[in-house]
Amino acid sequence: MTIECKNLKTPYNTTLNRPILNGINCKICQGEFVALLGLNGAGKSTLLRALVGLVPLHSGEIRINDILLTPRTLPHIRRHIGLIFQGGGLVRQLSALDNVLCGRLGVLSPWQTLWGFSQSDRCMALELLAQLGLKEQAYQKTAQLSGGQQQRVAIARALIQSPQILLADEPIAGLDVMAAQQVMEIFAQLHRARGMTIITVLHDLEAASAYAERALILDAGCLVYDGACRDLPSKFTKLSQVSV
Ligand SMILES: Nc1ncnc2c1ncn2[C@@H]1O[C@H](COP(=O)(O)OP(=O)(O)O)[C@@H](O)[C@H]1O
Ligand SMILES: [Mg+2]
Repeated sequence: MTIECKNLKTPYNTTLNRPILNGINCKICQGEFVALLGLNGAGKSTLLRALVGLVPLHSGEIRINDILLTPRTLPHIRRHIGLIFQGGGLVRQLSALDNVLCGRLGVLSPWQTLWGFSQSDRCMALELLAQLGLKEQAYQKTAQLSGGQQQRVAIARALIQSPQILLADEPIAGLDVMAAQQVMEIFAQLHRARGMTIITVLHDLEAASAYAERALILDAGCLVYDGACRDLPSKFTKLSQVSV
């Protein structure tokens, strides 16, 4: 699936004295692995959330596979996009399995959810957790899991709707080197084996150039670099290596 942003602008923000996103133009093709970089407050999370219709726009448009994102088309398009929120966005008191099942809520009709999750939903969730190395943790509360395990639960939750596009907001922030590598390897595998389009916010330039082909750098709501990760001019390395 291709993603196209044309002159994307959010409403004027009085605190910032400018729109949070200030005229973003970019096209991401099917199967690309893109790192979204930039200083804190640059607008990275806002851009990801805009792609799934969670941010009101002032002007411009978003097209997914040539379909214009509107309130009418959003529910259909949304099914194809998995979003991993900054910090994971898990319900800490629920088990890993129940958190993953929550990812099905957007796909099921309201009457289906009244009956609870089906056996096949549960099997699918358990299988995903097993694939991500969390078979033993399926019934544990997510609050009891390590940061790396929680992040993998968040990935499983995004994957249970079989998305074609995966958006991840700082998926390795706060993880130790091993756990971060595990998460990035999962993305690389999804990209290689399933041709999934991946856009991930990263702070770690090394991880970006090891895994992503392309970098988008945001600065104050504007796209200031769009090109190969490896060719990143040194003037931008400061913009992307930021403490969290
Ligand atoms: N809902 C909101 N209302 C007002 N300001 C917001 C909102 N969301 C984000 N912002 C502001 O917009 C800017 C960009 O935020 P964000 O997209 O979270 O940046 P990043 O993810 O790059 O750190 C920040 O200055 C933030 O404070
Ligand atoms: Mg953010």
